[in-house]
Amino acid sequence: MHDLTDINDLSRADIETLYELTDHMKRSPGEYTSVMAGKTLFMLFEKPSTRTRLSFEAGMTKMGGHAIFLDMMHSQLGRGEPIADTAKVMSRYGEAIMARLFDHDEMVELADNAAIPVINGLTDFLHPCQALGDLYTLYERDMLDTVAFVGDGNNNVTHSLMQACAKLGVSCRVATPEGMQPDRKIQNRVKDADVTILVDPYEAVAGASAVYTDVFVSMGEEEAREEILEALEGYQVDAELMAAAGEDAVFMHCLPAHRGVEVTAEVIDGPRSIVFDQAENRLHVQNAVLHTVINR
Ligand code: CP
Ligand code: NVA
Repeated sequence: MHDLTDINDLSRADIETLYELTDHMKRSPGEYTSVMAGKTLFMLFEKPSTRTRLSFEAGMTKMGGHAIFLDMMHSQLGRGEPIADTAKVMSRYGEAIMARLFDHDEMVELADNAAIPVINGLTDFLHPCQALGDLYTLYERDMLDTVAFVGDGNNNVTHSLMQACAKLGVSCRVATPEGMQPDRKIQNRVKDADVTILVDPYEAVAGASAVYTDVFVSMGEEEAREEILEALEGYQVDAELMAAAGEDAVFMHCLPAHRGVEVTAEVIDGPRSIVFDQAENRLHVQNAVLHTVINR
């Protein structure tokens, strides 16, 4: 693994190796306190973030390294400097780049022009670190079985989740309205896997071991808010929908969450919710990614 811009670039063995390393790093953090000594991660942000910024920065601290946050609009990128030049400059100073950008093509351009590894911290198209952390959260519970995603199908989180499930042989069902279906490119990539796109949320969650949702209105879609909320009426994850899933099914959300919109407070704050374990595991999986791309 050189970069992590897209789950599609990883093999099943890459992910399994990463999860074995994550297990070890999570259980024995004391063995990794200096693996990043003298090393710097650049964190380039074009969109807001809480978890991604904090988990990468805290992760580098725990491994003895350093992370530098760069707000894109307050860098020369905001005044028109090409991303390719920025990638080349960063490559002269540090050991890796993590970026959160709008346009996925810019992520690819960043990775193509950087001599150091590039990690995708979310684009409009993909969120690979999220999917790796989420499936790790099921893996450590021995629950990698059937994941049902309910909500916006044409979404960065959904796309990466579908791809990660396909890679690991996990059954994935996506319930989303017509017109919000996952991007055709993603559908083609997973066409030979056990990934089903449905309209009815109840059909999707029947027997599932995990029910997953994301915000209905993603970053950058605020202008279409009313239209999106109208289309997603009936897709809220509530107690009734959870009751239709498997008996031991867990509730998952990448966060931030909007109680009363995509999920009820009863579900997200209830005993089946594992959302904070997902948030924690972002750090452990990302540390394993950083250690892999920087040191191996
Ligand atoms: N889930 C996630 O990526 O959260 P942030 O937007 O807070 O980074
Ligand atoms: N789909 C959401 C994910 C947030 C982590 C968004 O892009 O806003």
